[in-house]
Amino acid sequence: MKDTFNPWEVLGDIDYGKLIKKFGLKELEELPKIFMENVLFRRKIVFAHRDIQRVLEAIHGKKPFVVMTGLMPTGKFHIGHMLLVQQLIFYQELGAKIYIAVADLEAYNARGQSLEESRKIALEEYISNYFALGLKKKNCEIYSQSDRSEDGKKSGAYYGLQNLLARHITFNEFKAVYGEITPGKMVASLLQASDMLHPQLREFEGKPLPVLVPVGADQDPHLRLARDVSQRIKTPRFMQLSSTYHIFAPGLGGGKMSASDPNSFIAMDDSPEVVKKKINKYAFSGGQATLEEHRKLGGNPDVDVSYQYLRVFFEPDDKKLEEIYRLYKQGELTTGDLKKITIEKINNFFKVHQRKLVKARKEAEKYFG
Ligand code: TRP
Repeated sequence: MKDTFNPWEVLGDIDYGKLIKKFGLKELEELPKIFMENVLFRRKIVFAHRDIQRVLEAIHGKKPFVVMTGLMPTGKFHIGHMLLVQQLIFYQELGAKIYIAVADLEAYNARGQSLEESRKIALEEYISNYFALGLKKKNCEIYSQSDRSEDGKKSGAYYGLQNLLARHITFNEFKAVYGEITPGKMVASLLQASDMLHPQLREFEGKPLPVLVPVGADQDPHLRLARDVSQRIKTPRFMQLSSTYHIFAPGLGGGKMSASDPNSFIAMDDSPEVVKKKINKYAFSGGQATLEEHRKLGGNPDVDVSYQYLRVFFEPDDKKLEEIYRLYKQGELTTGDLKKITIEKINNFFKVHQRKLVKARKEAEKYFG
């Protein structure tokens, strides 16, 4: 079977080294110290970039910069979605202005989901969890693609830009970037380009400035398109976009964690019993078939999903993580032990988070409802 890898569908195993080569990304290395204090960068969960230098200079010189992202409001908000939010919070603390597009028009055009449904899911699942995880409303703008602003000038500039962009791309370029493409997807990708570029307009931040778009690697076609097209437009001028790429959170059975496959994810509002059941029953194990063999040969933490959840989300202490890695590999720690540690870590985190989520859902309603 041929693997599928495009902005709207990812199936099969992912080789990140190959992706870097194929897309022409740069590996992330030599980051400032403050980045290395964050596990996402230290453990190379955010592993590649395009033109991040511009953003690093802005941070260093205390100059304004924007971090822009969009959310596709479908399904449940799950632990995999935390990867992006943690980056937004990190940059917000470093002084970034945050822009978040609720991709309701994209959900309509690419998945046939109504705008009302998107609004509801965006509020109850996504935005509430963003706030509960610690994103601040100050210096943060959240909007729907279908309703950019009550200010007509701003709205006009955003939708106008989408139209200006259309003039600067050919149908063959669309096909080269996306493969199979429909008019709905074409419109969605031009709107996403406007999402990424419009902060630089006079009506928004007022002038060209660094804009960083942190994404999962499947979104790179959108970036390639926006980067190419933006540099063909003479007025207004756009500073080239910067982007970073994070790995996909491993799904319970391996592969990508996906909101459309309930057996692949742990939702942020799963109960302790559900978390326990999901990890015990579905989390792919790198252990041996029998306890005897496991003690003798040891397990493989690199493919073990419980271990990966500790590495990516739930064990910030490098020493403790290394210890678990070593013991599992030596067979001293069994799959059962490892799963027990993971379940406990997740449930401890959820206990606090779910309390915050109740409050955040009310806040989100007030802010965006
Ligand atoms: N296409 C993105 C997704 O499927 C959502 C999105 C819309 C987006 N506009 C964006 C992502 C701008 C990054 C930047 O999740």
